[in-house]
Amino acid sequence: MPAQASPATEPYRDSSSLIASGTPGLSWRELTNAACGAAIPPYTAAMVLGVGVDVVEVERLRKLIARHGRRFLRRVFTAREIAWCGRRAQPEVHYAARFAAKEAVLKALGTGWSEGLAFTQVEVRRARSGAPSVVLTGAARARARKAGAARFHLSLSHDAGVAVAFVLAESDRR
Ligand SMILES: CC(C)(COP(=O)(O)OP(=O)(O)OC[C@H]1O[C@@H](n2cnc3c(N)ncnc32)[C@H](O)[C@@H]1OP(=O)(O)O)[C@@H](O)C(=O)NCCC(=O)NCCS
Repeated sequence: MPAQASPATEPYRDSSSLIASGTPGLSWRELTNAACGAAIPPYTAAMVLGVGVDVVEVERLRKLIARHGRRFLRRVFTAREIAWCGRRAQPEVHYAARFAAKEAVLKALGTGWSEGLAFTQVEVRRARSGAPSVVLTGAARARARKAGAARFHLSLSHDAGVAVAFVLAESDRR
């Protein structure tokens, strides 16, 4: 007879099935994290530290790029972001999404563009699948550490002249 997986060792699969089955022993926080779709193993407590959302009009970015060119790009975006967006058919769309992501990260951290933070310290990377992620450097990284943020989850979308970014900051603190 195959050994039955114990709840402690069973790999995390699907949060909705966890909730539907009413898995015993899960705390309310673990259940709500699972309900949010967070990719968290059910017995590893993680806490939602904050969320941030931002919407950017693509035309606004297009005008800023047209007026200030590379000087604007280099002040706001990293070399990696500029290289990737610059190769797209409509770079301004992707720049707008990344601009929104940078603002959304700060909202998730509950801070603004102060404390020595720079736009380029929040970088949006892209996995081979297309999925975006956030990498922080410098003062932004220090600010995130101070706030207790261990991970960020990012989602981007763009349509009808606007780009939107949603960020969830997660802490390992219980
Ligand atoms: C994810 C997907 C559904 C989004 O499609 P969409 O509704 O047309 O696009 P949206 O404007 O809402 O979102 C675009 C953003 O989705 C994000 N995205 C793309 N692929 C993603 C993925 N696999 N997982 C999570 N997010 C993804 C990106 O951040 C993208 O923004 P960017 O291009 O500026 O980096 C679509 O890209 C998809 O099906 N991807 C799967 C991989 C695929 O089929 N690739 C094409 C191979 S030829």
